[in-house]
Amino acid sequence: MRIAMIGTGYVGLVSGVCFSDFGHDVVCVDTSPEKVDMLNRGEVPIFEPGLDIMMEKNVAAGRLRFTTEIEPALDGVDAVFIAVGTPTRRGDGHADLTYVMAAAEDVARNLKGYAVIVVKSTVPVGTNKKVRERVALTNPEAEFDVASNPEFLREGAALDDFMRPDRVVVGVETDRAAEVMAEIYRPLFLRDFPIVTTDLESAEMIKYAANAFLATKITFINEIARLCERVGADVKEVAKGIGLDGRIGNKFLHAGPGYGGSCFPKDTMALARTGQEYAAPVQIIETVIKVNDEIKRRMIDKILEACDWSVAGKKIAVLGVTFKPNTDDMRDAPSLTIVPALVGAGAKVVVVDPKGRREGEALLPGVTWDADPYAAAEEADALVILTEWNEFRALDLKRFAETMATPRLVDLRNIYSEEDAQRAGFDTYVAVGRGQGPGQTRGHD
Ligand code: NAD
Ligand code: UGA
Repeated sequence: MRIAMIGTGYVGLVSGVCFSDFGHDVVCVDTSPEKVDMLNRGEVPIFEPGLDIMMEKNVAAGRLRFTTEIEPALDGVDAVFIAVGTPTRRGDGHADLTYVMAAAEDVARNLKGYAVIVVKSTVPVGTNKKVRERVALTNPEAEFDVASNPEFLREGAALDDFMRPDRVVVGVETDRAAEVMAEIYRPLFLRDFPIVTTDLESAEMIKYAANAFLATKITFINEIARLCERVGADVKEVAKGIGLDGRIGNKFLHAGPGYGGSCFPKDTMALARTGQEYAAPVQIIETVIKVNDEIKRRMIDKILEACDWSVAGKKIAVLGVTFKPNTDDMRDAPSLTIVPALVGAGAKVVVVDPKGRREGEALLPGVTWDADPYAAAEEADALVILTEWNEFRALDLKRFAETMATPRLVDLRNIYSEEDAQRAGFDTYVAVGRGQGPGQTRGHD
């Protein structure tokens, strides 16, 4: 199949590369000349494990190209995927469809012959039909169908999620479009990955419902974590105990500093707005959004409390600022709420992140960056773990305790235990949902 991919961000680039790995002929189009130049030099603009190797292989095989020019890219294509951003619209919280509609118009103006226009971006219910109308209006001669094909990959595990998905969802209106989509996903179908073929609206809703459910699951365990702190229970034990129930499942039950990222925050917000617009408020999601914001702010108090309620002039080493490990994405990361609050309270913050610096420097003014966690924490008054990168999971805690001014560990991802911290010489260990009494476990209390 010949495929054009409009947008080469986290989703467009991964999808384009993976489709070419299926054996399809793929042209990726982006309006950013810098991005396309990088890609044409063989450089990957984002950090996604394994993507560079797969990209290189398929470019070398002649199945994958990058361009800013949409017109030649659409020559003879069977399908055009739209994978541009759908951020939160300023002011009202709805999904901003400006980029999707602009891409749809670009496609309409340049389409020659029949193709399926596939919306891969996460878009509110009704958008695929709006895309169909916009394309027809822009180019009444265009011969096309629309299809909804929401993407479920996670950053940091994107290739595996794309190549071994739990399911592929396809919303269509015609048999012809269904056949093209089936041909594109044939390699997955042949390996028995479930393909859910449905109508446009259901496909659009599946994506929002899935993200909202996962955000709710995380928020649920975060609220239970808070209660665990008060009653002396350990949220890790609780998560294990409930997760073994097959109806609940053990995934997405890690308590932490609140969900962040490019999708859960904006998609929960957009779903809540859709509910309000259709007079069917999704109250549980409205609450999840509110609680998640509170959770992020509560983390600031945890750090302040560990530092005896004053961080002015104190040195704090923060490990991890990306919204999760294995990505350089800083969008809506909890660190963007927590770190500025510490800087604002007068702390001298030193940040270590394996991949977050390039994006993070502009977003976190007033902090110092260091590549080495041990150097960052020298003479520090607190060590805060904000993102659970693998390189932070097996630190020599003793070395930290020996060189810090005050050995305090605030572990917002629960990757260590109080015993680990005490054995290493920390006199304060604060975690999430593993406390005894109000506040948290405090070794020196
Ligand atoms: P992104 O911001 O990383 O990338 C969007 C790209 O589109 C940019 O490179 C931009 O230059 C390009 N672009 C914008 N308008 C264009 C146009 N008219 N023509 C060509 N290129 C254009 O976005 P993303 O994170 O890849 O997300 C894309 C969509 O996929 C969103 O709707 C998002 O909700 C959804 N999604 C994202 C993820 C994820 O993990 N990031 C996962 C599933 C779904
Ligand atoms: C999420 C979904 O998992 C993907 O299926 C979806 O395609 C994507 O959003 C999207 O629509 O863009 P992603 O944002 O890459 O993927 O990352 P997740 O692994 O889901 O993590 C999201 C946030 O939740 C992170 O801040 C993470 O730290 C947090 N989280 C996750 C927890 O706090 N606890 C958990 O148990 C799991």
